Amino acid sequence: MIFKRPKIALIGGGKIGSLLAQMCSYRQLGDTVLFDITANFTKGVALDIAEASRTEQFNVNVTGDHEYQSIENADLCIVTAGLPRKPGMNREDLLVANAKIIKTIGENIKLYAPDSYIIVITNPLDAMVTLMQATTGFPKNRVLGQAGVLDSSRFATFIATELGVSVQDVNALVLGSHGDMMVPLIRHANVNGIPVQELLYRKYGNREKADQVMHDIVERTKKAGEEIVKLLGNGSAYFSPASSAYMMAEAIIYDKKRVVPACAMLEGEYGIEGYYAGVPVVLGRDGVERVLEIDLDKKERELFLASVDVVVKLKEDLKQLGYI
Ligand code: APR
Repeated sequence: MIFKRPKIALIGGGKIGSLLAQMCSYRQLGDTVLFDITANFTKGVALDIAEASRTEQFNVNVTGDHEYQSIENADLCIVTAGLPRKPGMNREDLLVANAKIIKTIGENIKLYAPDSYIIVITNPLDAMVTLMQATTGFPKNRVLGQAGVLDSSRFATFIATELGVSVQDVNALVLGSHGDMMVPLIRHANVNGIPVQELLYRKYGNREKADQVMHDIVERTKKAGEEIVKLLGNGSAYFSPASSAYMMAEAIIYDKKRVVPACAMLEGEYGIEGYYAGVPVVLGRDGVERVLEIDLDKKERELFLASVDVVVKLKEDLKQLGYI
């Protein structure tokens, strides 16, 4: 029997791409190619990581390149190429600049890695995933976006800090588009099964105060990317996006069947037809193996549909611009 190590192409060798190269190598997820348009930078990053192989004790290959041929026969492509947000810019402002880049990358993935799975991270996320799927023509289970894992992780972090409990015991889900209209699900947030709303009520002894604190956590979650952009002053978050994408990559490569929120194509689920949006999915060997539908109450559903409207508009913009 011939065993083949998975090949991971990281397309975009900036902050998130470089961190992912380190994670994929140190944790031996597979052989990694770090691709970027810059000629030498990714070669330097990859060599630097490779030179840690003795001390970190890993046996996979990591290389940097700027020729598309280097991604040939990749099993998994993680796309971060593009421009990050600058202070004052929203994710939609990036649409025009990044659409051009994603289209070129999609064409090259189709050419060199036609059987690969693709996780897109580049913003505006929902539009870039839509464009990637349209450009490659890959089946919907093989093209998905990273956003929900990160948004939910942020939501869980803020809840854990507020309640003084381990974040490991917090389950919190964020649905919808990756932007200001995302929908952190208050009713479903729990600490090992105990509703967060109930724990906040016990903490404050007053329903109004508990609701206010929850509201503040939800608002902070929605603006969490912007909070980091402002603090960094140059560029956007990279540790947590890399960590979220790595978790998704591992779920696919190890066929883990993880249940995570991801930007996936909806064809009838949640009453949506033909649009990408953040929903819970089962992630395994076949990529998005299933979209899980959960009951939303009237208010949650309204918020979710308003969030999907953002994606509808972005898709319309892509059409107007002639990208799809
Ligand atoms: N092909 C390949 N790489 C490209 C291309 C291209 N056509 N155009 C730009 N790049 C590269 C840049 O050279 C840069 O190295 O994409 C990289 C982006 O890296 P950073 O600017 O460091 O951005 P990063 O923080 O990694 O974020 C990447 O993820 O969260 C999103 O909004 C964020 O869209 C941004 C993306």
